[in-house]
Amino acid sequence: MLFLLDSADVAAVARAAALHPLAGLTTNPTLLARARRPLAPLLADLRTAVGPDLPIHAQVVGADVATMCVEAERLRDRLGAAFHPKVPVTPQGLAAIRALAARGFAPTATAVFTPLQALLAARAGAAFVAPYVARIDASGGDGPATVGEIARLFAIHAIETRILAASFKSVRQILAVALAGAHSATLPPDLLDAALAHPSTDTGVAGFLADWADAYGRDTTVADLLPDDRRLDPR
Ligand code: G3P
Repeated sequence: MLFLLDSADVAAVARAAALHPLAGLTTNPTLLARARRPLAPLLADLRTAVGPDLPIHAQVVGADVATMCVEAERLRDRLGAAFHPKVPVTPQGLAAIRALAARGFAPTATAVFTPLQALLAARAGAAFVAPYVARIDASGGDGPATVGEIARLFAIHAIETRILAASFKSVRQILAVALAGAHSATLPPDLLDAALAHPSTDTGVAGFLADWADAYGRDTTVADLLPDDRRLDPR
């Protein structure tokens, strides 16, 4: 499973891109609105923060197919070729996914809550479907099980559309969708950090450093003790 970041916080995106093996960035209208900035410079800063090559999934908000297609084109103008228009799986959205796929985009169907929505979006030409795991859980369903059903549907019907699981509230949900067959998951910055963190890792590392400091000194590095002598012996 690949990891994407779900954020429009430029500083958080830059930090995560530097530290984590990110496969892309997703935003949604709520995340962009939260930044309270003009859209064009915000998108430019997000592109800079994530780097020139990583895919950015950014959502259209229009109510009809023509408007959504224009929005996708304008977003691509700003974000470059590594861009996927996110389109909700409404009736108009499904038609827009078809139109965008026909125009060479690789759309992401978003706000997916059921396997049949995912199947319809895939048949419409979605390159990705984004099931909302935590929101499914919160509404009494089973988010990871829904992801598993989508994965089975896509396997049974030999569909190449990828599952980009979204909407997470816990590390447990991340592991569950990975085991259920999600190809990728987009996580908010705090959960991406939480997925890596473990208190025993921290205490283990602290123990190593304390023992090292006793023997070699507190700020001494391995390189300090191993001078570069390749100039003397190039082998
Ligand atoms: O990208 C969609 C995702 O951001 C929704 O997440 O946490 O608002 O349910 P959430």
